[in-house]
Amino acid sequence: MPDRYDLPPGFRWGVATAAYQIEGAVGEDGRGPSVWDTFTARPGAIRDGHTGAVACDHYHRWPEDIALLQGLGVDGYRFSIAWPRIQPTGAGTVNPAGLAFYDRLVDALLDAGITPLPTLFHWDLPQALEDNGGWLDRDTAHRFADYATVMADRLGDRVPAWITLNEPFVHTVFGYALGIHAPGRTLMFDALPAAHHQLLAHGLAASILHDRGLDVLISNNLTPVGPASPSPADTAAAKAYDALHNRLFTDPLLLGRYPDLTALGVPDDIFGAVRPGDLDLIAGTPLDGLGVNYYNPTRIGAPTDPALPFTLLDIPEAPAHTAFGWPVVPEGLRQLLLDLRQSYGSSLPPITITENGCSVTEETAPDHPRITFLATHLDALAQAAAEGIDIRGYYTWSLLDNFEWAEGYHQRFGLVHVDFATQQRTPRASYAWYRDLIAAHRSCRVK
Ligand code: BGC
Repeated sequence: MPDRYDLPPGFRWGVATAAYQIEGAVGEDGRGPSVWDTFTARPGAIRDGHTGAVACDHYHRWPEDIALLQGLGVDGYRFSIAWPRIQPTGAGTVNPAGLAFYDRLVDALLDAGITPLPTLFHWDLPQALEDNGGWLDRDTAHRFADYATVMADRLGDRVPAWITLNEPFVHTVFGYALGIHAPGRTLMFDALPAAHHQLLAHGLAASILHDRGLDVLISNNLTPVGPASPSPADTAAAKAYDALHNRLFTDPLLLGRYPDLTALGVPDDIFGAVRPGDLDLIAGTPLDGLGVNYYNPTRIGAPTDPALPFTLLDIPEAPAHTAFGWPVVPEGLRQLLLDLRQSYGSSLPPITITENGCSVTEETAPDHPRITFLATHLDALAQAAAEGIDIRGYYTWSLLDNFEWAEGYHQRFGLVHVDFATQQRTPRASYAWYRDLIAAHRSCRVK
């Protein structure tokens, strides 16, 4: 396994987490309820009834977690801000204790020589906003802009770059279409106005951040989509899925228009959600970076279920599958980046990989599958860089084992093992491997 990859000068190494997955302390210091507090209380919603009420107790143990980051030697740390800590009802009154928490975190990161990279929204919408329709309601985009203003005013003097949203695809589809995630709506394609309103929220926040001289990124879960066979039926199904998973988000952001969604039965104005001027707003603030969260490619076949214009298939010949059952295909990352360049050309901003990682069965020792996963994906990334893709950084998912949404604590993505009974953190072999890799790159940086 190489101890260095050929990545561009200034390449930034990091790890990522998200508020609801690690913080716990859901009822403390004035935090309001989020959709995830509500959803996890719903019987049967989460495996074994797990909740994020305690999670990694990061809200109290953050100094220890910053020490772990420092031990890794990362350049940057991607975390998310819990909107309900800042505005308990998602609007108006700001909670000083919530702001103070992120203030301390940011200062401590800077003291440790780590650049904070906050995500403003990683799925934990204040419940009060959901009660008014959540992301199906256009007004939520304006509330998000207000919240972004509060955060930029408070932390913008120390935080140079911001991610507006995490994975609007997953939030829309899992949260509003299929009901697997909070808020647990099962609207199928009628969920798509939630995607438009998230993009609108991004556009509004992006211009606020830019006005303050701050860099703006957005992270989406992107996947290279391939048809099961070259047949016209499989190819058309793959095109429909690509439009839903990838282009629904990247086309408006980078081209200022929606892709053709007719195969999904969705009209151009997304059921009346798109108003004049919206697309100009969404694309109006050029992105300083596109955040790519990559886990696996997607294979699509012709429809088999009358409700869907495609069928999701496994990739059985993948060399491995993660504990989650996801196929491990590092080459998919290179393919995805080349496809993005092919689709968007000079409109494609610099890329930062804002998530990449795998869940490994706890008993697996000494963590070889995770090391292999990371090493092979970095190799694919370096190949894409050699082919001219502008790649600025790589943030592994995740620093710690954490609350993995519908899977509760069953999927372990951490470089650091967490014993959820004692909150004991134990760095895995992958932590040491990543630390040494970063150190090797740093030593040649200073030469
Ligand atoms: C999300 C993370 C999640 C990870 C692994 C991404 O979809 O942004 O919150 O834990 O994938 O499932």
